[in-house]
Amino acid sequence: MPLTNVQVRDIETLLHPYTNLAAHRQTGPVMIECGEGIHVWDGEGRKLIEGLAGLWCTSLGYGNRELIAAASEQMQRLAYTHLFGGKSHDPAVALAEKLKEISPAPASKVFFANSGSEANDTQIKLVWYMNNALDRPKKKKIISRVKAYHGVTIATASLTGLPANHTDFDLPIARIVHADCPHYYRFAEPGETEEAFATRLAESLDALIQREDPVTVAAFIAEPIMGAGGVIVPPKTYFEKVQAVLNKYDIFFIADEVITGFGRTGNLFGCETFRIEPDSVSVAKALSSAYVPISAIMIPERMYEAALEESRKIGTFGHGFTYSGHPVACAVALKTLEIYQRDDIVGQVRRVSPTFVRRLTALAEHSLVGEARGTGLIGAVELVADKKTRRGFDPKAQVAARCAAFAHEEGLIVRAIGGDVVAVCPPLVITADEIGELYDRLERALDRTEAWVAKEDLRAA
Ligand SMILES: Cc1ncc(COP(=O)(O)O)c(C=O)c1O
Repeated sequence: MPLTNVQVRDIETLLHPYTNLAAHRQTGPVMIECGEGIHVWDGEGRKLIEGLAGLWCTSLGYGNRELIAAASEQMQRLAYTHLFGGKSHDPAVALAEKLKEISPAPASKVFFANSGSEANDTQIKLVWYMNNALDRPKKKKIISRVKAYHGVTIATASLTGLPANHTDFDLPIARIVHADCPHYYRFAEPGETEEAFATRLAESLDALIQREDPVTVAAFIAEPIMGAGGVIVPPKTYFEKVQAVLNKYDIFFIADEVITGFGRTGNLFGCETFRIEPDSVSVAKALSSAYVPISAIMIPERMYEAALEESRKIGTFGHGFTYSGHPVACAVALKTLEIYQRDDIVGQVRRVSPTFVRRLTALAEHSLVGEARGTGLIGAVELVADKKTRRGFDPKAQVAARCAAFAHEEGLIVRAIGGDVVAVCPPLVITADEIGELYDRLERALDRTEAWVAKEDLRAA
């Protein structure tokens, strides 16, 4: 089909995030026009189930009148003010109070930013700041994990454990170390139980810390479920074993709840689902149901005390964004949290999750699917060329991307991520019937992908 006027203008003007820029010049963009509930409409008038809630974020779906009203009212009352130099405003205070109340870790203070990247970047800076205040200037290294996703700023892209975020960006920076990826399906040894795999990873983490020298290791950051790295659910007992190692060396635990926060895993936070007891927590995305950009970190008293001490010494706490605690974003986030509580979003996820997980797990029978994994309302299928040996396809064949394109034609948005993984993460307000429809469409897309794989003879080793 010839490109439309707006598609041509797009090619001439936009630098697209996470897009093959060369291919984009040929194919042009997929235009998304509007949304309502769990659906969006594309430029060809197709009605699609938004099976990834945008980018794992539009938890209350589209067109939520209460969130629109909250934004509009706040814009009319006070469109902007800031928190610099001790200024404040009601929505920021109320939202910070609410986050402290529900935080999965004992929180002393809340710091606002605009994105998950900024939140995690702030976490790193505060860990360094804290250890300087505590006179531990050598304790600065941060341990992340292979396949982790924590953002794209210079520091958080360094935390991210995916090659595309490092290659030719001259990353990672110094003092960032990557521990093993906890993906049982891919990295367990033959016959190893999940528990034994978790023990081995904890031992390997301990050895890594020893090699780096414990007095130089400051913090460990982890997503309860790895999202963009492949929706990797940790093996049983993993986090408790990892935490025991961290405690041994006084290493600060940062939980990145940017995807898992606010109900996604069937508890308010992924930390509850996986029994994690972090020191500090990053949230974003579903904090405002993605209606406006906002993120936050909830930090413990000892981190606040250290910042307090530093600001006495230096004269200020020298960090903050123009839009830290933007009043419109805070008002929308407050309303979002109010709706989660009033409508019992966690109860809603628990009600529909069995249907979601049952249909997801059933996909493991499909000839293309090596592993179907997930929990709550987040899941993925990993496509393989050989189910028995778990051999993947040639990455150049882009099999998962092709599956996502077929899904689009079937009326479903899913996301193809590295390692030929197709991720599903619908708005939390999805009903059981809609989940059925989502998987019917995904099955048709998988069948079409199988036919294409056979036709192109992509299974050849
Ligand atoms: C777990 C996690 N942390 C951090 C980020 C970065 O957030 P942002 O894209 O808002 O900077 C993401 C984004 O997907 C994420 O999934």
